[in-house]
Amino acid sequence: MKINATYFFSAMVALLVAASCSSRQQSGQEAPDSIDTIAYMKSGDSITRIMQEVLLKNVMQATKAGGAVYAVEFCNERAMPLTDSLSAIYNCRIQRISDRFRNPANKPTESDLPVLEGMMSSGQAKPVVTSDAGSIVYYKPIKIGMASCLNCHGSENGQIDRNILDVIKQKYPADNATGYKEGDLRGAWKITFQIPEQH
Ligand code: HEC
Repeated sequence: MKINATYFFSAMVALLVAASCSSRQQSGQEAPDSIDTIAYMKSGDSITRIMQEVLLKNVMQATKAGGAVYAVEFCNERAMPLTDSLSAIYNCRIQRISDRFRNPANKPTESDLPVLEGMMSSGQAKPVVTSDAGSIVYYKPIKIGMASCLNCHGSENGQIDRNILDVIKQKYPADNATGYKEGDLRGAWKITFQIPEQH
């Protein structure tokens, strides 16, 4: 049984390595449906669910404690460290990306862009798993799913309170992340898993 398990594990690793090699010629392509794709799809899904919950809970607590202006300051200081600390726990890189990013650190890379474009062009945006240079990347659409998102991402004339807009412009002088409507695609979660090396 033990030998079988080891054999199975090596075969899985070989599969993963093969997937990563072929991806070098076609980076940004969707990986074929296989056991590893399904496994990464599941991990990505549960990690992003937890992340979403953690971020939302923190923003709600900050708003309750100090109002929306304070919540913007809180997001400015805490959103990245929060995602980074969870990256360490889950042993992967957790990011949020957007074509209309607010924080320049969330700017998509060349290989992210086709995935985001694909999500935008299909009315029913779904999670995607790709392989790219030795890693597997999971993407999940982030929509403007609640009216409260518009307090900080809605229209600049009216929907975003003047005081909030002032602090957004002050923290993010090149902000692109306003003018959204409910249901719009706001960006995506991006989870990068390193493919384990064969020993
Ligand atoms: C209190 C204001 C506020 C609210 C409410 C808010 N956001 Fe944001 N959002 C921000 C700020 C500030 C940033 C930049 C965070 C940073 O510096 O990492 C941001 C960044 C993001 C990003 C990362 C991409 C980028 O543009 O940098 C996504 C995705 C996002 N918000 C989605 C949402 C969604 C979806 C909702 C509703 C569930 C929401 N936001 C509600 C203020 C807010």
